[in-house]
Amino acid sequence: MSAAEAATLIPAGATVGMSGFTGSGHPKAVPQALAARIEAEHAAGRPFKVNVWTGASTAPELDGALAKVGGIAQRLPFQSDPLCRERINAGEIDYVDIHLSHVAQQAWFGFLGPLDVAVVEVLGVLPDGRLIPSAAVGNNKTWLDIAERVILEVNSLPPIEMEGMHDIYYGTAIPPRRQPIHLTQATERIGEPYFRVDPDKVIAVVETHAPDRDTAFARPDADSQRIAAHIIDFLEHEVKKGRLPSGMLPLQSGVGNVANAVLSGLLDGPFEELVGFSEVLQDGMLELIHRGKMRAASATAISLSAPALREFTDNLAFYRERIVLRSQQISNHPELVRRLGVIAMNAMIEADIYGNVNSTHLMGSAMMNGIGGSGDFARNGYLSFFVTPSTAKGGAVSCIVPMVSHVDHTEHDTQIIVTEQGLADLRGLSPRQRAQRIIDRCAHPHWRPLLQDYFDRARQRGAQHTPHLLAEALAWHQRYLETGSMRL
Ligand code: COA
Repeated sequence: MSAAEAATLIPAGATVGMSGFTGSGHPKAVPQALAARIEAEHAAGRPFKVNVWTGASTAPELDGALAKVGGIAQRLPFQSDPLCRERINAGEIDYVDIHLSHVAQQAWFGFLGPLDVAVVEVLGVLPDGRLIPSAAVGNNKTWLDIAERVILEVNSLPPIEMEGMHDIYYGTAIPPRRQPIHLTQATERIGEPYFRVDPDKVIAVVETHAPDRDTAFARPDADSQRIAAHIIDFLEHEVKKGRLPSGMLPLQSGVGNVANAVLSGLLDGPFEELVGFSEVLQDGMLELIHRGKMRAASATAISLSAPALREFTDNLAFYRERIVLRSQQISNHPELVRRLGVIAMNAMIEADIYGNVNSTHLMGSAMMNGIGGSGDFARNGYLSFFVTPSTAKGGAVSCIVPMVSHVDHTEHDTQIIVTEQGLADLRGLSPRQRAQRIIDRCAHPHWRPLLQDYFDRARQRGAQHTPHLLAEALAWHQRYLETGSMRL
């Protein structure tokens, strides 16, 4: 049926589980038709909102379209859309920011309430009713399993040759019946290439022919290149010390320009035969595979810029052999991240001198994107890096602060902090040792004396484990809000 007809099957107040992860694999037509319907209902004076669950971020035709018409009541678990962000920060959308590996199990456990409708993009339907997943697997298996009704969007644009790349694991049970997940190598297959769905639940099939979001990246700038160089030096050092195998361990790379630039840095690095175990495969990782530096990669979604997508599509036979796409509760699973010894590299907004990290909030209050999978990997990885340029907003803000304005990753989960200034290895250090190392290695020279002065005065107050001057620590952020610079 048409997208408009399918949209009429979604009632006001429904909870809708949509496909989509980092701008790929989201439904392209039904959300826009739903947005048009919501607009018409609002014009007629009738309230109409839905709760929207996805894998992660989507695109303007989903988050953007629904946010624009004020159609989202609750949103989870991750977004990065400017309009959606605006509504979240205006208090109009209840945003539930969840570790990406937790979402499926919280839904199975019933913690999130019932799922009324699943709207899932697929590449095709087999004669026996199984579904060919598209460029993002995300939470689709879970939505198809638990939703009361299912709407399928069959997109004929992405290459059907992706059939067979996916590995959908059906072995999960909930406690106390849960069993180990027998995945012992990053790109091993433990599932099947298709989704299953009960045909009696399918209330609509809508055909589309539309592209995923063009996830363009800024060319790595000088700061990103320096960050990448610090990480590569450090990894080489760890190999020399015998703390890392010479063939390295599986790599995870987060979202954003800096994280992508770090992967580009590995192109010229000394490591060969790399393996990826990440949640999203972006341009940087594709290029590593293309150039033969990375042997293979596991992810839950492929999210590329237009030129990288052309490269992927034109050489699908090559990439099909080297990429496995899984459900996000498997791609990000703490059990697997820890077993495989994943090296986690995630970007952040700010870190404090003790190593607490803020990945999500600007100045303590305004949501940027969400925690995504950074916590899944950071707490459980063999090594965990957090990276950021040392300053933001043209230098008016220091990304190293006395106390983070919001905590996503505690000092217990962060091991290595990197800025263009240098790398602070925090392993085995006490809070005071951490503070001195972060100030010395990571702070921008412009901010370093101020941070040192803060730390010195906090220490002079007495022998405390984590010395702070509380009012002054928070005044850094307040000052920026009031004057546009953290500086006095
Ligand atoms: N204070 C205020 N604003 C800051 C800031 C700080 N300390 N640090 C960054 N910003 C602002 C930047 O100025 C920019 O805003 P603008 O677009 O208005 O200029 C914005 O935040 C994004 O910064 P940018 O340097 O472009 O970051 P990025 O593209 O590398 O993304 C994160 C960085 C942290 C936002 C992004 O990686 C993210 O959302 N991470 C959380 C989720 C995650 O880690 N997922 C991966 C798991 S696999």
